[in-house]
Amino acid sequence: MSASQTEQENAWGFHTKAAQTYHDGQRANRPLSIPIVQATTHQVESGEQLGRLFTAGADTFYTRFGNPTVTATARKAALLEGAQDALIFSSGMGAITTALLSVLKAGDHVVAQRDIFAQTFKFLDTIARDLGIETDFVDATDLAQITAAAKPETALIYIETPSNPQLKVIDIRAVGAIARKRKVHLFVDSTFASPYLQNPLALGASLVLHSGTKFLGGHSDLLCGVAAGDTPLLARIREVQILLGNIMDPHAAWLLLRSLKTLGVRVQRQCDTALELARFLDSRPEIARVHYPWLDSSPYSRLAHQQMRGGGGVLSFEMAGGGEAAHTFVDALRLIPTATSLGGVESIIEIPADLDFSSKELGAAGSEVAVDPGLVRLSVGLEDGEDLQADLERGLRGVG
Ligand SMILES: Cc1ncc(COP(=O)(O)O)c(C=O)c1O
Repeated sequence: MSASQTEQENAWGFHTKAAQTYHDGQRANRPLSIPIVQATTHQVESGEQLGRLFTAGADTFYTRFGNPTVTATARKAALLEGAQDALIFSSGMGAITTALLSVLKAGDHVVAQRDIFAQTFKFLDTIARDLGIETDFVDATDLAQITAAAKPETALIYIETPSNPQLKVIDIRAVGAIARKRKVHLFVDSTFASPYLQNPLALGASLVLHSGTKFLGGHSDLLCGVAAGDTPLLARIREVQILLGNIMDPHAAWLLLRSLKTLGVRVQRQCDTALELARFLDSRPEIARVHYPWLDSSPYSRLAHQQMRGGGGVLSFEMAGGGEAAHTFVDALRLIPTATSLGGVESIIEIPADLDFSSKELGAAGSEVAVDPGLVRLSVGLEDGEDLQADLERGLRGVG
């Protein structure tokens, strides 16, 4: 593909990038849906050619090293993130842990946001620590804490924005400036935003990570992860991915590619409905506080409007009546099912404290990141907003 064609596709709007299958201008008789190449290996003409494919990192060598369907999907993810390159993984945690292990070694130090996804916290606090990689967890909404925690050994700053489940928004550009000054990596978990709402690389991150299981997959039927960034960093992560065998199956990759075509349409509708529901909940006396960055009352509203293009499809709220009221409310719902995860076409709701990742999984460190027992997290799907609001009203009548 010539550079000018790449420039052309980079100039397209988000929905055009998402919907188009081929970007190289050819008009050959090609299927408009990329074929699923299920073969794990490809016949070659000679041993010498096999060697060349291996050296060149071809995606027709052996599927753990690459696969044409997987490559097409990764390429689409890179295009949507505005990245030079992307890799896809068997889960979000696969992307996160592989990326961390690619850039960190014994003796290195990490400054990480304290209220990141509990299992990312656990990885840094257990496996990485056992490997000799120390992490200091800080409140990343306070930039001074990041600067104060950084040491000569610091190799990486790690943030997640908006954060799970309290929807805190971290200033990517400001943290990126700190990382650049110290010549360290900045990794950003952008799962809650998706590339439709936020592009951390353009704001100074060196790598953007996604649990693709959420908005990117979008149908609660596939587990995957994405890492996107510059080619040299991605080449290093690919080496480690091949060794860990943490690749995405071609069939699942095809499902992800199909989902990415509708990402913007889905997330826009999810944002619109989530904002309506956030406003509705904010007006109710049974709710003590709504966390949604697009609400005018959010402490993150200004920053969110600077670095995002919408508030996202997830909101959380604290019940005035605490944990008991949260359970009465959720159990009274008829339309919205209780389930974990987020970003799918169907709305789902959970009480994060029920999973109690913070205390069960994180031990003593968990008390630092424990969530309010009355906090409820709602992932807004594609249903009609009125039906969702009626269901929430039903739940609120139960606690009124
Ligand atoms: C913000 C965030 N990052 C990472 C993950 C891990 O993703 P996966 O379950 O696909 O491994 C999750 C899962 O909920 C998440 O919410």
